[in-house]
Amino acid sequence: MAESDFPKLVNRPEWAALADHRAEGRPHLRELFAADPGRAERYVVRVGDLYIDYSKHLITDETLALLQELATATGVFALRDAMFRGERINVTEQRAVLHTALRAARDAVVEVDGENVVPKVHAVLDKMAGFAERVRSGEWTGHTGKRIRNVVNIGIGGSDLGPAMAYEVLRPYSARELTFRFVSNVDGADLHEATRDLDPAETLFIVASKTFTTIETITNATSARTWLLDGLEGDDKAVAKHFVALSTNAEKVAEFGIDPDNMFEFWDWVGGRYSYDSAIGLSLMIAIGPERFREMLDGFRLMDEHFRTAPAEANAPLLLGLLGIWYGNFHDAQSHAVLPYSHYLSKFTAYLQQLDMESNGKSVQRDGEPVQWQTGPVVWGTPGTNGQHAYYQLIHQGTKLIPADFIGFARPVDELSGELKAQHDLLMANFFAQTQALAFGKTAEEVRAEGVPEEQVTHRTFRGDHPTTTVLATELTPSVLGQLIALYEHKVFVQGAVWNIDSFDQWGVELGKVLAKRVEPALTGGADVPGLDPSTKTLVAAYRHLKNA
Ligand code: F6P
Repeated sequence: MAESDFPKLVNRPEWAALADHRAEGRPHLRELFAADPGRAERYVVRVGDLYIDYSKHLITDETLALLQELATATGVFALRDAMFRGERINVTEQRAVLHTALRAARDAVVEVDGENVVPKVHAVLDKMAGFAERVRSGEWTGHTGKRIRNVVNIGIGGSDLGPAMAYEVLRPYSARELTFRFVSNVDGADLHEATRDLDPAETLFIVASKTFTTIETITNATSARTWLLDGLEGDDKAVAKHFVALSTNAEKVAEFGIDPDNMFEFWDWVGGRYSYDSAIGLSLMIAIGPERFREMLDGFRLMDEHFRTAPAEANAPLLLGLLGIWYGNFHDAQSHAVLPYSHYLSKFTAYLQQLDMESNGKSVQRDGEPVQWQTGPVVWGTPGTNGQHAYYQLIHQGTKLIPADFIGFARPVDELSGELKAQHDLLMANFFAQTQALAFGKTAEEVRAEGVPEEQVTHRTFRGDHPTTTVLATELTPSVLGQLIALYEHKVFVQGAVWNIDSFDQWGVELGKVLAKRVEPALTGGADVPGLDPSTKTLVAAYRHLKNA
């Protein structure tokens, strides 16, 4: 079907059926559970190590059937298969979308323009493994012969969030004698804080940039080179032992002065926000070692296979994607909270923000026509229980509908023992209590029965009926992390497919970049910038005044 022949989503009978179904209303979650004793066991998908409970959603069997009909009608499965086949489904950039090839088995065949890309993927993984082992063992030394003890990844967006998040998650698996830091912000304070207590002779910089033209990264990498050379008596040759690059752009890497032998390659069919299991994960591989990295890739692959082959009614990314559509398009939910109950997942939601919001923050369809429906939600959240004492109040008793994912683990990491290990049950008691309170609430009668004075009853009543997904796993292993990330990658894919948007471009980020380049001379040199709008012109004048005051 030609793009322009794609019937308007809102005109589809499947859409209208969902709208009617929504208008009919449905019983409160309390009643849905009371009427169907098997609901808690039935609305569960088990995939790999994940136990995904979606019983606390505002749905019935009919809702699920209607959502699945919408997925079929909008061609989700056809687009999924086209993605796995290496077709150029990123239409605005005319690129294949093959992050799934990054975790394909060594003997798999995935073709882009008739070329099997899997051997290239594994050649880079092998090169990364060799390098990671040399750094970990101390065989790779710095310019003065000292062993590398510090690894600083310089990158931004997809070249930062993935490795930074995954390093945090897998810290218990990491070489604890090495220090890992992640510098992304062009605010000089970021690099300053990351390097101020490090010895340049023991520090390796990994410059991560798909394009190798991103101004923040190149600026930070240039400053890092100055810091290194200042510390090593200005010997240019030091760069070869202290800088490696992760990029698709060999020419720019060489221009920067990094030896092409020290470059780890990836390809234009890997989107930045889908790239941390490519060469972009080098810092992580140094931290956890090649074997654990491969376990993580196995976890990704497990979820890929599940998404590709599981039937619609038991396909986890499909279900989660469709549930998001149910709330965003039929309940006017504007945001989606991801609330992990693990300290190690502290950067998980920030990572998902780029994955989801850069992918599905779009308002035109694949053929350029404006959408007439809501697209991607605002994704937000931080680990529990901290969030409970900050913003959960609004989720429980505010006026907004906020669907939320709760992610928790049956066991704490092996490193914890004694009292710290025992605290895990308290953490998880909170986890279960929150989804219980959100779903079932507390009625006015229940509040009164506790002897609460009448004037406080409404304040202390919880309406409940707030939808949540519970994702449980035994432990937070490298494989489980891979499974979780691929789950969200494919969830985002499903939603983009239904909304008929290109989830793989990011033109919206470009304008700010161009304007920053135009404004910069006005700030640094004081030159007048022609064509500045009156508001920005006034602000720049105020900035200059304050700067020189
Ligand atoms: O923010 C826009 C963006 O293009 C992201 O998509 C990307 O992950 C990030 O910049 C960094 O890009 P690069 O890896 O090319 O430096």
